[in-house]
Amino acid sequence: MAAASGIAAVGVIGAGQMGSGIAQLAAAAGCAVLLLDADPAALSRAVASISASLRRLAAKGQLSQDACEDSIKRIKCVSSVQELKDSDLVIEAIVEIEDVKKKLFVELDKITKPSAILASNTSSISITRLASATKRPSQVIGMHFFNPPPIMKLIEIIRGADTSEEVFSAVKSFSERIGKTVICSQDYPGFIVNRILMPLINEAFWALYTGVATKEDIDTGMKLGTNHPMGPLQLADFIGLDVCLSVLRVLHNGLGDSKYSPCPLLVQYVDAGRLGKKRGVGVYSYGQRSSSVKPKSSL
Ligand code: NAI
Repeated sequence: MAAASGIAAVGVIGAGQMGSGIAQLAAAAGCAVLLLDADPAALSRAVASISASLRRLAAKGQLSQDACEDSIKRIKCVSSVQELKDSDLVIEAIVEIEDVKKKLFVELDKITKPSAILASNTSSISITRLASATKRPSQVIGMHFFNPPPIMKLIEIIRGADTSEEVFSAVKSFSERIGKTVICSQDYPGFIVNRILMPLINEAFWALYTGVATKEDIDTGMKLGTNHPMGPLQLADFIGLDVCLSVLRVLHNGLGDSKYSPCPLLVQYVDAGRLGKKRGVGVYSYGQRSSSVKPKSSL
């Protein structure tokens, strides 16, 4: 099994908000990165946003021009899982649906070399269950990055029931190598941060849904009243309302407490395709809207 210093080839699956940032971090740390997405348009968007982000860092003097261009060159887009066969570490950041992730882990288990570590960036799905879909549960681990990965300092590492100490140490060292602070969670629904954050976001939706206050006042209240850098409704838009809803459902099912039941307004926004900033509209509007989104009037 690869020690952190031996992690040279990294596969990233899912080139959306999270996967593109993770690919950027790994490339900037000197790894050869293969980036895979089922949607070719997502790959084109990811390459454009990674290049822009690295060039911004170079313009600010936080990265040399050579390091910037070398990092961009280290990322190669691929179209099939087979191409990840030589990766030392594969980080999955695809859609937050357990069956879809499990299917991918089964495939990765078949094609990657025996020493490869398989990590999931899941916000809430059980690492133990994903690991159980493979024949190498000791080499499956959660690496929960925060949005946007190049900026946010934290990685929450989740040990599945069978994750080995060696794999935990390798992933912790790798996370530190890419500049992150690590916290470690046992594998229970929502881990640490989302277990606490999602009920807060859900409560903000309930406050909006039941007419306690406007979205602006809810967010301003939490910003100025509790010193949060961003209100919970805006944060939900940045995370993605679909992601928030999935996490709440995992908390609700996994912990069996009705306090995690998603607010109907959050459910309705997701049904309407108002997924947040990535779609141009969520609780707030962000200029350009995807043409497929026909928002319902907000309450
Ligand atoms: P996203 O919707 O921006 O990107 C997901 C990408 O995965 C899309 O480009 C999609 O085409 C691709 N995809 C879906 N199924 C695939 C498959 N079977 N094979 C290959 N590509 C596939 O989603 P986002 O926000 O990047 O989230 C990805 C994962 O990261 C989810 O598990 C989410 O819970 C987790 N996460 C999200 C955070 C956030 O703030 N958005 C924070 C931390 C974790």
